[in-house]
Amino acid sequence: MFVYNYKKKINLIIYRFYTSSEYSFSKNVHKSERKKYEKYGSIVCEEVVPGVKRVSLFRPEDIAHVYQSEFGKIPNHSNSVAAIGKYRKDNSAVFKSGGVLLENDEEWSKLRKKLQKKLSKPQDIVYYIDKIDKVVNQFIELCGKNKYDDVSPLLSRFYLEVMCLVAFDVSLDSFSSEEINDKNSITSKLIEATHDGSKVMMSLNTGFQLWKYFDTPLYKKLKKTQNIIKEFAVEMIDKKLKEINENPDYNSGCLIENYLRDESLDIQDIIAMASDTIIAGINSTSYVTTYSLFHIAKNENVQEKIQQEAEALIPQLDDHMTVEILKNAKYTKATVKETFRLNPIQSGIDKILKHDTIINGYFVPAGTNVLTQNQVISRLEKYFTEPNKFKPDRWLKDNSDSNSKSINGFAVLPFSHGPRSCLAKRLVEQIMHIFLLRVIKIP
Ligand code: HEM
Repeated sequence: MFVYNYKKKINLIIYRFYTSSEYSFSKNVHKSERKKYEKYGSIVCEEVVPGVKRVSLFRPEDIAHVYQSEFGKIPNHSNSVAAIGKYRKDNSAVFKSGGVLLENDEEWSKLRKKLQKKLSKPQDIVYYIDKIDKVVNQFIELCGKNKYDDVSPLLSRFYLEVMCLVAFDVSLDSFSSEEINDKNSITSKLIEATHDGSKVMMSLNTGFQLWKYFDTPLYKKLKKTQNIIKEFAVEMIDKKLKEINENPDYNSGCLIENYLRDESLDIQDIIAMASDTIIAGINSTSYVTTYSLFHIAKNENVQEKIQQEAEALIPQLDDHMTVEILKNAKYTKATVKETFRLNPIQSGIDKILKHDTIINGYFVPAGTNVLTQNQVISRLEKYFTEPNKFKPDRWLKDNSDSNSKSINGFAVLPFSHGPRSCLAKRLVEQIMHIFLLRVIKIP
């Protein structure tokens, strides 16, 4: 409805989201980073805090080099969410460690091996297609009934509902008027906790980190958000354990049940993963999906092409969503890739160098923080034809535009790359593909 029929309106709706600082993530970071590139060149070393050096890489070739040989089999990061790590340490009765998102070294490696088993392969996520499709249809039904000035809060609800079905096989009834209108409903509280949590995290991560020594007002705010998420995760896991114990034939196939049935996983690690699913599952996803809608709304030719694809692949509105449809949704996939090129949730990926190395002719010692500057690279003429234009065709193998430059795989890394890449990459992409294919068909 809002994408297809009310193009001008969606521009306005998304514009509000786009300019709102609450959701701005890395909106302007790439602009200041680009100034450094223009002034100093394609490799820049800065002392971010006294004694801590950070090297920024602005060439995909250098990013390929460090990923392929210098981050190692167990890549470590400098931990931009360290305050959550402290929260989990302070709550050691519930959390054994910081979880896969936060840990480094062997602890990370052990967790990653166990957790990725149920989430990272294509066959792991196919099972969730029906559940995702069901929530997409609920979202569409709601949009048909009401008029919304701002679609972003609704997208947060959409992702919360999807994530809870995928992770716990639980519907929170996120689109019911009771849940939407009551500030104290569980869905409103969880959405607020994830939004406030990510805002507070960014502030805690910069400047003097006094929260490491005592509970600063900002850290107390983070604690409040994490308590809500932790309590919800524990409640969901308790419920699932009860269901498993009471019924020997119980099999919901949800992510957390799969983890609970894996004897090598500790219940505390599962609580951390359940919390991470809520933390990572709402903000980042709704942010990127909103940008997808924004670009689609602004580019009529893109709208038409996705619509043609959706018409061809899903002739009837009530046709079942299938693996085959998703496999063939090439233009929709390219649209999602193009959104990630222009609007990733992070301007780049940070990692710590494992070995002394030479990058682009410069000696960089082991232990240095390296930041890949993908959002800057993604907007450089040198690597992308008309870099500021939203052109999904550039990602297609049969792209007819002969001027289009071939894309270096390390130029755009929205989910990172290698052993530490996002655990939910395939799941997130699958949700976005289903969402766009269905939404574009709203009559
Ligand atoms: C638009 C959505 C998302 C994007 C763009 C995204 C991107 C990322 C990125 C860039 C990383 C860091 C990788 C690195 O340091 O090399 C990451 C890690 C991670 N993400 Fe996502 N993510 C998204 C959604 C999700 C969701 C929904 C979940 C949970 C179900 C999730 C779970 C994780 C986990 C557990 C890690 C830690 C992986 C590790 O350190 O081994 N992400 N994600």
